[in-house]
Amino acid sequence: MSVLTAPIHIERVKKSRLSTIDFSNLGFGNHISDHMIVADYKNGEWQEPKIMPYGDMMMSPAMLSIHYGQSIFEGMKAFKNKDGEIIIFRPERHHKRMNKSLERMCMPAIPEELFMQSLTSLIKVDADWVPTGEGSALYLRPFVFASEAKLGVKIAEEYKFIVLTSPVGPYFSKPVRVKVEEEFVRAAEGGTGFVKCAGNYGGAFYPTMLAQKQGFDQVLWTDSKEHKYIDESGAMNIMFVLNGKLVTPRLLSSLLDGVTRDSILKLSESLGIEKEERRISVAEIEDGFKNGTLTEAFGVGTAAIVSTIGSIGIHGNVYELPPVQPDSFQLRAKKKLSDIRKGHEPDVHGWNYFIS
Ligand code: COI
Repeated sequence: MSVLTAPIHIERVKKSRLSTIDFSNLGFGNHISDHMIVADYKNGEWQEPKIMPYGDMMMSPAMLSIHYGQSIFEGMKAFKNKDGEIIIFRPERHHKRMNKSLERMCMPAIPEELFMQSLTSLIKVDADWVPTGEGSALYLRPFVFASEAKLGVKIAEEYKFIVLTSPVGPYFSKPVRVKVEEEFVRAAEGGTGFVKCAGNYGGAFYPTMLAQKQGFDQVLWTDSKEHKYIDESGAMNIMFVLNGKLVTPRLLSSLLDGVTRDSILKLSESLGIEKEERRISVAEIEDGFKNGTLTEAFGVGTAAIVSTIGSIGIHGNVYELPPVQPDSFQLRAKKKLSDIRKGHEPDVHGWNYFIS
């Protein structure tokens, strides 16, 4: 790889859009920061990345990603801590997962140096876009897609790696209503469910749209063979407090190895709860509602952070979760994560990567 032999070339915007952003009402994904970073892959290697103004790009309508789906992404977050320093949360783990996605989709790996330098250089240029409000962050969206123009079905030989950044608030602004999906499938074992390829998300739109027509926000995917066991919720992993224990589906090739999922599992001991990663049947969740042993359900993800599940639809019945108590596990876990990122609690796991 001949990349990063010199400082990254920066072309700055003529006029920043920062003053047009209402930081008190960000929503999720509505604003993209002034700059982006772009690197091309050709002749078997990644080329020097460039920082340039965010904007439209000229692409061939024959580029292979549009036709055959070689397109993957990551989602991570940068925060300003209490001392005004900018940190990225667990970028090494996101980098590893991105390369897993690339491998599964027959796309070239991104070297760690290219990944980290791209993120840090871009964030430095748009440092003023990192929000400080409660629950807000600079969302980082690295993605790679096949840019080679050809109609034949083949593994592409040319790609683009781009990083966009976006100041965001919480993904869900109120408790989420989920429907246990018993007809459609997000991913089967052996498929691409464990990676962040674009097709996983596009394929989820139709069942989600049907669930939304029935008054739900999201679907809760179940296993592809029997629709008996819970997998994940597409935009987030799922966790329950059942019989006083933190319970979450064990990792399979059909569900995403979420970074927030992993962080909360690692924090569970210090939060005084026993954890179980295992198969969870829909019947067990329904029983938990009926006998009162299911006390909490929440989604966890980079975008979702820790999102309360308010109700779950199972076989046509809608079950309501009890109101979230101030000392609930989910609120304590959310606070602990935020405190670590903001520097109010020691980062004993070494998750905060400082941009210097
Ligand atoms: C994330 O949490 O970063 C995701 O990728 C979920 C969603 C925004 C697609």
